[in-house]
Amino acid sequence: MDVDERINTIRAVWRDGDYSKVGELFAPVSDRLVAALDDELGLAGREVLDAATGTGNTALALAQAGASVHAFDLTPELLAVAERRAADAGLPIVFKEGDLLAIPFPDGVFDVVVSTFGAFIADDHRACVSELVRVCRPGGLIVSTAWAPTGLFAALREVPIAHHPELWPADRPDPDDWADPDRMAAMVTGLPVDVEVTTHVHPFWFSDVATALGFLEEVSGPVQRIRVGVAELGGDWDALRAEILRRWAQRAVVADGGVALDGVYGIARLQVHADP
Ligand SMILES: C[S@@+](CC[C@H](N)C(=O)[O-])C[C@H]1O[C@@H](n2cnc3c(N)ncnc32)[C@H](O)[C@@H]1O
Repeated sequence: MDVDERINTIRAVWRDGDYSKVGELFAPVSDRLVAALDDELGLAGREVLDAATGTGNTALALAQAGASVHAFDLTPELLAVAERRAADAGLPIVFKEGDLLAIPFPDGVFDVVVSTFGAFIADDHRACVSELVRVCRPGGLIVSTAWAPTGLFAALREVPIAHHPELWPADRPDPDDWADPDRMAAMVTGLPVDVEVTTHVHPFWFSDVATALGFLEEVSGPVQRIRVGVAELGGDWDALRAEILRRWAQRAVVADGGVALDGVYGIARLQVHADP
């Protein structure tokens, strides 16, 4: 795949559906993460990058905490939403188009680099993590969240791929790596960082599991892409969705007239050495 084809393919996945609506579900994770970083580091006045910002959840939370925020993403349609949100909130965030594999900033300029559910889907993990380290200053901190191989999002990917392995080409990296301490340690071998991965849960509330899946089928570009892939392979999406729903129903917690689906995620913290 040449460079333009690769970029167009990524953009086509993320501009489909309505990522704003998915982002609204993810926003509490950004808010909690930024609050914890603010408690730990004090974000006011710090130079911070939000990598693969999407519709800007994390960038906005960082700016609200007083950080000086730059943010980039590969998908112009999502960046336009992020820019509008920042303007409406009066937050002076600088947004740019850019690629996780060639981050559009010089070396060592950020105190903190954050990526919520962005870096883990990079199509070359080592290139991505090297870029995150490159733009972070010595002594700085990189934090990335990644959905883990249990919980809500695992079944969505695993069930179709178990039936149609062609959906996930052998050379495409496994996003689960970013939620796994051993695989993260292997990924950063030779880079000037110490890495730590912790596991967390964000509950997604829906009236029932079928409503949850129907919602994601309607608004999630990646889910729509999987459906198209299954159809192209002559597969039976209805059978796969029934299996996903069975798996979700086994894990769902019924409460308050609805269900909570467990969004299990890892937070990878990469502490950049002060003297690389
Ligand atoms: C699940 S969304 C996360 C967005 C946002 N960080 C959030 O927390 O809502 C993944 C984002 O990664 C972006 N993305 C995917 N591959 C990328 C790449 N190679 N470079 C830059 N952005 C990329 C997509 O455009 C999308 O906005």
